Amino acid sequence: MSHVDPWPLVVEDARHYPSPHNSQPIKLRPVDDRTAELYYDLDLGLPAESFGIPFGHVCAGVFLESLRTVAEGLGYTVAESLDHREMDFDSADRLHSLGTVTLTPRAVSDAARERLELFRSRRTSRRPYDARLVPDDVVVGAAAVADAAGHTFRTTADRRIVRRLVHINQATLFSDLRNDAVYGEIMTWLRFSKDDARERADGLSAEAMLMPGGLLRFAMSHRGLWDAPVVGGAIRWMYLNTMRGVRQLGWLEGPFAGPADYIEAGRTFMRLWLELTAHGVRLHPFGTVITNPGSHLAFAQAVAADEGTGRMAWMLFRFGYSKTPPVAHRRPAASMLIGATA
Ligand SMILES: Cc1cc2nc3c(=O)[nH]c(=O)nc-3n(C[C@H](O)[C@H](O)[C@H](O)COP(=O)(O)O)c2cc1C
Repeated sequence: MSHVDPWPLVVEDARHYPSPHNSQPIKLRPVDDRTAELYYDLDLGLPAESFGIPFGHVCAGVFLESLRTVAEGLGYTVAESLDHREMDFDSADRLHSLGTVTLTPRAVSDAARERLELFRSRRTSRRPYDARLVPDDVVVGAAAVADAAGHTFRTTADRRIVRRLVHINQATLFSDLRNDAVYGEIMTWLRFSKDDARERADGLSAEAMLMPGGLLRFAMSHRGLWDAPVVGGAIRWMYLNTMRGVRQLGWLEGPFAGPADYIEAGRTFMRLWLELTAHGVRLHPFGTVITNPGSHLAFAQAVAADEGTGRMAWMLFRFGYSKTPPVAHRRPAASMLIGATA
């Protein structure tokens, strides 16, 4: 063989990028052994909420940073030529082009190898946290990562504000379930049994959400009960119980006015996630607080977010220390590669 096709190797790791609802919408079509076309599969998007559409490009940015991390760890640089068109979820063509990426071989540095290991160890943790504050120097390091990209990382450990934001996140779930389109979207991606989660290898498993599958299925298929005092109260209590030990929340503010901004935002989020991972810190994105307009407003007011012209507080998350969270499955590399032959 004169050369090795790098794509299956790169995708084998890159497919572990995080995506909202674990819908894994990014696809690659290799053109040759250096260049691939990059797509967002609109059928795997989450457009039910108004800000669900910008989050498609945020997810593309998360992927591009993941791809760069993986490629550099395996011995390639990545050049991008991006297409910044808005996504049209009504388009007949279900593959929205994001542009092309080109790999060039280069020597692997120790730093790139370590960063790939961090990428491999990153997970969302929805488990209770242990109430320890993340040290200031770690927060300052994460803020520097955001600063370098023109974003601001802000945090709070004020108990009153933390409690308020955790409640806004919980109330978002209840509000989202009352919206038929958003409810339909969530139901598409919930995986109630371990077998279903493993076989379909995508979506949000009951296990990853720390809920007994049967109970989650019952609660989700009887959403009218959520407004009943006793049952609603029990569900609220169960959900808030997974938030035990949350001492600190963080959010990102910055330019968020079009696809190019959304992509840079997504990249920044991934860099920050890896930076925190390097210090053993876990996080849990509260993306639905951003995509739900009422929740976003309540959040922005609670923290007096800087949302001047073209700027937005576009990501909120809890962060801290927890036991190892369950694994979220991924579809095999072949299902991310268009035109791949087995
Ligand atoms: C942009 C973005 C927004 C997200 N929003 C949420 C959210 O609102 N709630 C949640 O529980 N997880 C959220 N997640 C986490 C994903 O569900 C998670 O990354 C995915 O299920 C894969 O799991 P993993 O991160 O453990 O690999 C978000 C992830 C991303 C990248």
